[in-house]
Amino acid sequence: MKIVSSAIAMQRLALKWRRAGLRVGLVPTMGYLHDGHLSLVRRARQAVGAAGRVVASIYVNPTQFGPAEDLANYPRDLPRDVKLCRATGVDVLFTPADAEMYPGRAEGGYSTYVAEAGLAARMEGAARPTHFQGVTTVVAKLFNLVQPTVAVFGQKDYQQAAVIGRMTADLNFPVKIVVAPTRRETDGLALSSRNKYLTPAERTQANILFHALQASRLAVKRKAASAARLKADLRAFLTVAPLARLDYVEFFDPVTLRPAGQVRRGTHMALAVFFGKTRLIDNARL
Ligand code: PAJ
Repeated sequence: MKIVSSAIAMQRLALKWRRAGLRVGLVPTMGYLHDGHLSLVRRARQAVGAAGRVVASIYVNPTQFGPAEDLANYPRDLPRDVKLCRATGVDVLFTPADAEMYPGRAEGGYSTYVAEAGLAARMEGAARPTHFQGVTTVVAKLFNLVQPTVAVFGQKDYQQAAVIGRMTADLNFPVKIVVAPTRRETDGLALSSRNKYLTPAERTQANILFHALQASRLAVKRKAASAARLKADLRAFLTVAPLARLDYVEFFDPVTLRPAGQVRRGTHMALAVFFGKTRLIDNARL
């Protein structure tokens, strides 16, 4: 496995691969890797085959964090991530520094951003106003640097995958977007780098997100129910986890992400819940 930290070196390598006709799979991450990330690496390998190249990127992207968010405290463990990537068959680990991705940004020397203006508006976009612009900007830059045939994202961040899919189509990036299923702990909690912030008591209650999704799925299995009713039920349900504070819950069309008045099988559900300062998200098709 090769580790590349220079943007221009990454792009040169990508152009060489392209001239050789190789298929390239990209897995963008912010590091502190867990099995959810590694499942995306395996999916990328499956997509490009043994002869292709798999690139994982590790970059804690400052433009997707709000001013009051956890950028400085975001968990990092590069030596461990390197070992995990090597063991999972990554060919190139791209680990750029801020000066490579946003040269001169602090001094006003960087001023171009990519924003998706439809799907990004609600849910995570409403809760974190500049978040998706940071995500689409860094992913567009990674597409230009790595020139992937395929890029793999997790369903864990469902809205993010939808926003990136739209950006890719709208800006004609020649990249196939693959969305891979959410990996979970045995109690149902979705794997996340942020789970590490949970206290033992919070961790015990954190699978309430998964159980909330299951409860809503059961509620609409036989007949549709109004979103207002399900939201009220959810608030009541969350009282069994007293450390949980609901940020939002939304029921929506899986393609347009428009809110659903009536919720039925196939409607999508997403929620964000605070445990102390830690914010967890989860989602599922009902
Ligand atoms: P990060 O949170 O590190 O996640 C990287 C990728 O892993 C995303 O596509 C995310 O959806 C996926 N992922 C996270 N938890 C998962 C799980 N439990 N099961 C399966 N996949 C999971 O998402 C980001 O980084 C950033 O916004 C990024 C796209 C890298 C842009 O900076």
